[in-house]
Amino acid sequence: MRDYRIAAIPGDGIGPEVIAAGVEILHACAGADTGFRILVEAFDWNSANYLRRGHYIPDDGLARLKSFDAIFFGAVGSLEVADHVSLWGLRLPIAQGFDQYANVRPARVLPGVTSPLSGGQAIDWVIIRENSEGEYAGHGGRAHRGLPIEVATETAIFTRAGVERIHRFAFEFARKRPRKHLTLVTKSNAQRFGLVLWDEVFHQVAADYPDVSTDRELVDAATTRMVLKPDTLDVMVATNLHADILSELAAALSGSLGIGATANLNPERTFPSMFEPIHGSAFDIVGKGIANPIATFWTACLMLEHLGEDGAARRLMRAIEAVTGAGIRTPDLGGQASTRGVTDAVLEALAP
Ligand code: NAI
Ligand code: MG
Repeated sequence: MRDYRIAAIPGDGIGPEVIAAGVEILHACAGADTGFRILVEAFDWNSANYLRRGHYIPDDGLARLKSFDAIFFGAVGSLEVADHVSLWGLRLPIAQGFDQYANVRPARVLPGVTSPLSGGQAIDWVIIRENSEGEYAGHGGRAHRGLPIEVATETAIFTRAGVERIHRFAFEFARKRPRKHLTLVTKSNAQRFGLVLWDEVFHQVAADYPDVSTDRELVDAATTRMVLKPDTLDVMVATNLHADILSELAAALSGSLGIGATANLNPERTFPSMFEPIHGSAFDIVGKGIANPIATFWTACLMLEHLGEDGAARRLMRAIEAVTGAGIRTPDLGGQASTRGVTDAVLEALAP
């Protein structure tokens, strides 16, 4: 029996609702006939506890997480804590501390789901986001607070090593897809240092992947191409900020933010990788029982793939597609089902 130890961090808002559903699904994917078990340990690191304890992650927190096979993360963000405090208190220290530099974000219109685009059925993209540096490197500061001469800097950091490893990851990823096409997205006309480095290193790495076709797009033009010519895109590689924005557009174009899944990977497997829906706390629907759990279920597929359980991942994806195809959908997708209803339907579709 293969045992996988999963650290669950439900966090804030609808995080606990969707992670509870996701844990049920993971257990249902495992079992005697699959040869593996999922052992889940939950961590109560969230904003309510931050307000009581003064920290999100305790001093030995990362050391404790390190022994797990994967991290299953909900969302962080609360009306009581400033967003930059919560994000930098919980999610970014894990992603950066565990060098999860490759953020993989698939987007596809699932069966039964209507894209807001007329040509939306063509969407079948994976956005590869640089996840360790760039605009979210955390480099900057403020001085002369409150004075008329107040200054704030927010410096994007691009290193050759950081740029090269994400490009190489993206080429390896694109090579395994049927279309083998990779689009470089930057803004190297206006940002002439870091993003010109991105372009140069991309073309150097491309020489090692003659089987992958490439093209490039400036990030503003990439948004219009996603909307107007969705069939021309396959895999995109972009910086931390650009890919963050493009992937939420990708989720919306495929039907809802409530289906967007992501994997924060440490490809070398020195540290555990982290799997999360791309959405946040969703204050407007928290506690209503209508959070779409599909993003979290798709995220569970990505986790199972990473753990090497490809058969279970495929079985789960088929179950998700059977359920969306049958019209069992939460309100964000135009349906009337609850989180519980969708979860039960996926459990039923998974049943042998
Ligand atoms: P959000 O993703 O929480 O919500 C945006 C909109 O999408 C809302 O209308 C929400 O109801 C809807 N939505 C999101 N997930 C859904 C789901 N599973 N089912 C149905 N509808 C869903 O983004 P927002 O409003 O910008 O941020 C709210 C809080 O979450 C903030 O504190 C923010 O910092 C935090 N946040 C955290 C993230 C994370 O933990 N990775 C990511 C994004 C935001
Ligand atoms: Mg985002």
